[in-house]
Amino acid sequence: MHSTTTKSHRGRGVIENFREFLPVSPATPVISLGEGNTPLIHSPRLSERVGHGCEVFVKNEGVNPTGSFKDRGMTVTVSKAIERGATALICASTGNTSASAAAYAARAGISCVVILPVGKIATGKLLQAFAYGAKIVGIDGNFDDALRIVRELGETGDFTIVNSINPDRIAGQKTAAFEIIDELEDAPDFHLLPVGNAGNITAYWAGYQEFLARDRSTKLPAMIGFQAIGAAPIFRDRIIENPETIASAIRIGNPASWKQAKAAVVESRGAIDIVGDEEILAAQKWLAQNEGIFVEPASAASIAGLFKWCNSTGIAESFQEIREGSRIVCTVTGHGLKDPDVIVERMKELKPVAATVTAVRRAIDL
Ligand code: F0G
Repeated sequence: MHSTTTKSHRGRGVIENFREFLPVSPATPVISLGEGNTPLIHSPRLSERVGHGCEVFVKNEGVNPTGSFKDRGMTVTVSKAIERGATALICASTGNTSASAAAYAARAGISCVVILPVGKIATGKLLQAFAYGAKIVGIDGNFDDALRIVRELGETGDFTIVNSINPDRIAGQKTAAFEIIDELEDAPDFHLLPVGNAGNITAYWAGYQEFLARDRSTKLPAMIGFQAIGAAPIFRDRIIENPETIASAIRIGNPASWKQAKAAVVESRGAIDIVGDEEILAAQKWLAQNEGIFVEPASAASIAGLFKWCNSTGIAESFQEIREGSRIVCTVTGHGLKDPDVIVERMKELKPVAATVTAVRRAIDL
């Protein structure tokens, strides 16, 4: 196997760290915000939950420059767009893609249009798109409607589409798999992640395959994707007209990379499974309060999925038969501060006490 001397460096960005694996040349201008090289955090508590001497790691993508994994794909996509002379970007989004596109467009000095399902975008993400100066258009429809409009507008040639139907996005996002292999010195046995439009599972699978082909790893993980119960088109094998879940980032009924995601699951002998909103919120809380990692609800789907597979006894969808000492990676895709609405509700319970040490001590109650 290849040595690990090429380990990536924080702050250099994914293009400089993985140039030879990306569709860039010395002539490509690099539009980067120092994305990638995110922490792969070993979790003793999750490892204990799985048992069988397994090791569980959390790949925390929430610490990317705009707070989600989208930045990995966006640096490549926007750099290539600039190389080709683009002057305006366009995307549909459940929020994170728009935040990322808006930031990289600002960095590149070009304009960015985002089409969003109105009233269905988490506060923090909408706020980001505004802050970075994107032109925001809210539509009376869902993400799938927004993507349909974007595809049509993209055909006019006036805009570069920066959704994951743009292959440069997938190319950039596969670098997360490279980092995991570099750090673990091989691929893990299982990789768990949330699935929405299905670009990310496609990208990870491409990355794992590429490093195996280049002799940088000796195996491939089983890819296990989790959709929310009310937004599970791949699991149910049919388009969901009105997808519903608290995890707004993965509220998608007709994923663009449906076929590729299925291929990843079949080829890797993985699975697509579902988790409920209650399980998602419980996993979000658990991860924050037991590991100090605060993620948005969509991201917690991978942890909710891990718990489900630990608890269930059916052999097909559980870790009951897991090989001793397996290594499991769960990607958490976005930062918790982006989608604080559920927690803001809980904070309303906070009542002030008198400004005295006695009152404060009484309130602490420890
Ligand atoms: N997690 C988060 C936090 C996301 O924002 C998304 C997708 C996913 C998971 C699912 O990834 O689509 O590659 O399967 N968000 C997109 C957006 C759709 O517009 O920001 P996927």
